[in-house]
Amino acid sequence: MANMKQIAKTAGVSLGSVSHVLNGSVSVSDALRKRVMDAVEAVGYQPSQLARGLRRDKTNMIGMIIPDISNPFFPAVVRGAEDVAFAAGYRLILCNTDNSHEKELVHLNELRTYLPAGLIVIPSSFSDLTTQARSYKQAGTSVVCVDRLPRDWEGNSVTVAHEEGACVATNHLIRIGHRQLAVIAGPLHLTNAQERLAGFKRSLKQSKIAISAEYIQESTFDRQAGYAKSLVLLRLVPRPTAIFASNDLIALGVLQAAHELGLRCPEDLSVIGFDNLELGEYTNPSLTTVHQPGYQLGARAADILLAQVSGRQQSVQHVVLKTDLILRGSVGPPSEKKKISRPARAILMS
Ligand code: RIB
Repeated sequence: MANMKQIAKTAGVSLGSVSHVLNGSVSVSDALRKRVMDAVEAVGYQPSQLARGLRRDKTNMIGMIIPDISNPFFPAVVRGAEDVAFAAGYRLILCNTDNSHEKELVHLNELRTYLPAGLIVIPSSFSDLTTQARSYKQAGTSVVCVDRLPRDWEGNSVTVAHEEGACVATNHLIRIGHRQLAVIAGPLHLTNAQERLAGFKRSLKQSKIAISAEYIQESTFDRQAGYAKSLVLLRLVPRPTAIFASNDLIALGVLQAAHELGLRCPEDLSVIGFDNLELGEYTNPSLTTVHQPGYQLGARAADILLAQVSGRQQSVQHVVLKTDLILRGSVGPPSEKKKISRPARAILMS
């Protein structure tokens, strides 16, 4: 492997000059820079990022910690972050937590020893990121939280308007005549799931619609749990005419359960998801959903990090991106018969 001595020999300059050019430590003439860079190319030299990182106390690496890359929502977030990082000369290292705060802690402790330029984190369930981020901050390393926030988080964040998105979706169901509404919320220890449920409730409250507690089911963010909770909802009397699902995977479970129970969608049951995964275009019927801009979530997080790494930006940043309701085949007005019936035990939503 080529080294700096060979560069110096090929360029006919001192080792010190090579070091000045490669490390940018001292300003050098254009002629010297060209001579050294020609020699770098001629000998095929590749600088050690590790050695460079040790000298500067920071590498060009950005750590990205997410729950699970096999969840179809997260690849776009990672891609957005990586594209922005790559264009600026930074490289991304990806870690999955499987939503376990213990595994997240292992990643946080290990990544620290790699001297990353920054961290982008989608927190795990019961994340301890708030405490951990303090030591990163002391080392001058920025951390940006994406999608949902750990307890007491006051650092950088990029999220979407979860509550507003859910409220707009529920308003649409009400506008086209639904009164027997149900929701399958995500895990309610996660801020995004809490906010989406708050948006659903806000919409009902604004329209003075009361539903009883069993029409609100909590689930994990996956199809299987969505399916199981749908069976509970679809056996209630009266049966809901519309279900708002806290993400698209849950909504897929609703479609599956409805199909198995012989219910037509949207004639017997309307379904709205949240995320706008590409697969929602190919379900039968196609899935109405709340679009959240996954790619932009990652890209904006990387933008914030890079601005802080370069010193262009010092203050803590909170970015909230907007959502859009995407209307497709899974939503329609309720049939006349259903429109007039009411839930058995009605309570007003708080
Ligand atoms: O599908 C994964 C869900 O969890 C998404 O809605 C996203 O917001 C994530 O937190």
